[in-house]
Amino acid sequence: MLRSRLARPGRVLRLLDVVPLPTAAGPGEEALTASVTDMAAMTAACAGVDAVIHLGGIPSEDAWAPILDVNINGTYTVFEAARRAGVPRVVFASSNHAVGFAPAASFPVPDGAAPVPDTYYGVSKAAGEALAALYAHRYGSEAVCVRILSCFERPRNPRMLATWLSPDDAGRLFDACVTAPAPGFRVIYGVSANTRGGWVSLDGARALGYEPLDDAERYAPEVLAAAGTGPDAAWPDPDDPVFRYLGGDFTLPSRDAPIPPASSPERPLPVMTAVPGAGRFAGWSLSACRACSRSPYSFGLARPNPVTVPSACPAPADEPASGDDAASQFHVSAVRRVSRSAIMTGSTVRTGVNTPLLDTLRLTFAHHVRRVVTQRNRPRRSNPVRIPRRQGKIFP
Ligand SMILES: NC(=O)c1ccc[n+]([C@@H]2O[C@H](COP(=O)([O-])OP(=O)(O)OC[C@H]3O[C@@H](n4cnc5c(N)ncnc54)[C@H](O)[C@@H]3O)[C@@H](O)[C@H]2O)c1
Repeated sequence: MLRSRLARPGRVLRLLDVVPLPTAAGPGEEALTASVTDMAAMTAACAGVDAVIHLGGIPSEDAWAPILDVNINGTYTVFEAARRAGVPRVVFASSNHAVGFAPAASFPVPDGAAPVPDTYYGVSKAAGEALAALYAHRYGSEAVCVRILSCFERPRNPRMLATWLSPDDAGRLFDACVTAPAPGFRVIYGVSANTRGGWVSLDGARALGYEPLDDAERYAPEVLAAAGTGPDAAWPDPDDPVFRYLGGDFTLPSRDAPIPPASSPERPLPVMTAVPGAGRFAGWSLSACRACSRSPYSFGLARPNPVTVPSACPAPADEPASGDDAASQFHVSAVRRVSRSAIMTGSTVRTGVNTPLLDTLRLTFAHHVRRVVTQRNRPRRSNPVRIPRRQGKIFP
């Protein structure tokens, strides 16, 4: 959405994402594939850069573990990589969900209002703003946090008639954020000039030179009709809880994190069978279970592959069943650092404490793991492989 809108003569956009770009890099663009959680890759990506616009991450509510890793640790990594590489400015895509529980009675919510997040996602944005403040005040970075409201091609529901940020206005806003002289640290809002808006301050954005030109009102008839709302119906609907707080449906009980039953026993450890004499083995990454948020410990598996992980955990409805899909990519980045694990040679598993021959492995996981998402081929090694003690939990 922003690529074409931020293109300028003489400006090079270095585009980094954990998945390859949907279209190849064009003139004035450079493409990098890396995770925002990878400090080395991010530091290298920041080399020679004038400003970072940090958009990468999980853009909605999710379980705590991936939010912590990708959004919070990832945002730390971006700020720290920018500092190490000498990038003077970071623009952080925060969200209205950092202040999602701001009540309608408090509208317009002021720039820099104290966080009242409505979800783990909102907490991650508040944490990102705190990191921005840290890097601005401790290290002198310029750090602009944009609490985006609803940035989509067009408004998708009646709430977005107030909260829509048009793609063109988003381009104008982020361009202002990277070009405004000496912004220091600030937390501003990103929204278009919506007739039904006024929910947040635009003073901070305007002070940077942003002037919104679009208005969701031109979509109002079709949006309201699609929602079954007649043209004469009250807006906002006083009985609709979506309008009680800035965060809309993110503030509703439907977003509550599930509480696991206190008495539920840990599931039995999955059992894997190594293949004696297979000779060459691969390291694997597992996705953390999104139903229960637990991350896997690291481990190793024998060929032949694919190996599926027995688990009674049902796939969350919103996640594709398997494959190298985008959802899996999030997990790949989330678990890559723990995927270094046991490597088996022949039917022998060697660890740092010289664990002897095993041909049936019971692999310890934090709780349960739903599926294998990626394979990391490893070169054959003849020497015992050291496994950190905390990771080498392999039992006969
Ligand atoms: N669209 C909105 O209404 C809105 C509102 C508030 C905030 N935001 C924020 O703006 C940013 C962009 O949102 P979007 O709506 O374009 O979502 P999006 O899903 O289209 O973009 C997020 C991108 O981040 C990439 N990504 C995910 N994990 C990554 C990782 N570990 N390393 C590198 N890249 C990774 C994804 O591949 C994806 O391309 C997000 O940070 C989101 O939280 C968006």
